[in-house]
Amino acid sequence: MDKFRIVGGTPLNGEVQVSGSKNSALPALAACLLTHEPVTLRRIPQVKDIITMEKLLAFTGAAIQDGSGTVEVHARSLEKPEAPYDVVKTMRASSLVLGPLVARTGRARVSMPGGCAIGARPINLHVQALEQLGASIEQSYGYVEAQAPDGLRGGEIHFDRITVTGTEDVLMAAVLARGETVISNAAREPEVQDLANLLTKMGAQIEGAGTSTIRVAGVERLHGADHTVIPDRIEAGTFLLAGAISKGELIVNGCVPEHVWALVIKMRQAGAEVEEIDGALRVRCSRRPKATDVTTEEYPGFATDLQAQYMAWMATAQGISFVTETIFENRFMHALELARMGANIRIEGRQAIVAGEEKLMGAQVIASDLRASASLVLAALVADGETIIDRVYHMDRGYERIEGKLASVGAKIERIQ
Ligand code: EPZ
Repeated sequence: MDKFRIVGGTPLNGEVQVSGSKNSALPALAACLLTHEPVTLRRIPQVKDIITMEKLLAFTGAAIQDGSGTVEVHARSLEKPEAPYDVVKTMRASSLVLGPLVARTGRARVSMPGGCAIGARPINLHVQALEQLGASIEQSYGYVEAQAPDGLRGGEIHFDRITVTGTEDVLMAAVLARGETVISNAAREPEVQDLANLLTKMGAQIEGAGTSTIRVAGVERLHGADHTVIPDRIEAGTFLLAGAISKGELIVNGCVPEHVWALVIKMRQAGAEVEEIDGALRVRCSRRPKATDVTTEEYPGFATDLQAQYMAWMATAQGISFVTETIFENRFMHALELARMGANIRIEGRQAIVAGEEKLMGAQVIASDLRASASLVLAALVADGETIIDRVYHMDRGYERIEGKLASVGAKIERIQ
């Protein structure tokens, strides 16, 4: 099992390039199941979750050509509209194939994701939404079995709570449903907008993606397309925080500033200089941040996927900050590992109380999930001495060549087997 060995204390200086968005690439790959024609996707990050999704598409019968960053998916015919347990258990986002499989083949058998480190992660909202489109869905032996032998029909869908992949799942089903679908309380994430752009290129008729109400006029069939996914806003935010916590000066190239604006505002409030320069963001921070509270919200609020990384920065702040997590019920695992590095954090339900310390100390720590591992890397960059982070496979799920990118701007980081 790979580990990272990081020696802290070196300010990061230079430029890093943001890769394509994992959370945009995953629904985009699933969308390829909706047409019998080939679809070309570009700027696809080479990370573990993408490989898992490609395996899943191949399992259903699609042909995949992965050319390091450009992927062609050709779902000419889908013999096996299923997502088996041993694939889904490693990646919850596998549920993204549920909508496309039902819409394209009239049936789907998808394993329930089960829980993961950050929470229960049910898909009840996905199921309810698809039932609104006429699918009949049973749950048995840990699988969701969906049938729509006469195809799907448009409907009124209102999500009880905002769900990103739930919105994406039902959007991909609605584009081939007969008649109009209105999705209210939809997720507004940039990844939802990016998916709608791809579906539109494939011939779908969609209005309002990126707002809370999305209208879809169903069409008979979709055709192939060529689409470049948006940059990864969570990777961009992670690098901005890496530049700040290490007290360096970093240019984050190829990001969309608007997609990380809630973080930029927080970082400025905490005392970092963050400037927009054409198609990039530059961060400079020469001292410890001022303690600044944050509450995670759905987009355009502060992203839950940046909460762990931000908490690492606040662990070195002057003063006490409150970090409130409203999206997931158990997303403070990183706090326990940060405490091993000397961070002073108390968890009270959905709130973490972070009393900033002048110094963190290197230690042996264990990553628990994708973004928690990023938070430990950030803390290690500024900690005194050496940190060994175990189970970095969590990072490999969502960050492309992270140690290479960080080393290129001065971080003392190496991967050890
Ligand atoms: C997406 O997950 C992202 N994953 C997550 O990123 C991200 O943390 C999350 O959205 C929130 O922004 C992908 O896009 C592949 P949700 P998703 O459905 O769609 C509850 C990362 O680090 N819920 O918006 O699974 C759920 O339990 C990952 O890249 C239900 O109760 O999240 C959660 O509390 C981690 N029933 C809340 O809603 C449902 O049917 C929001 O979840 C669906 C969700």
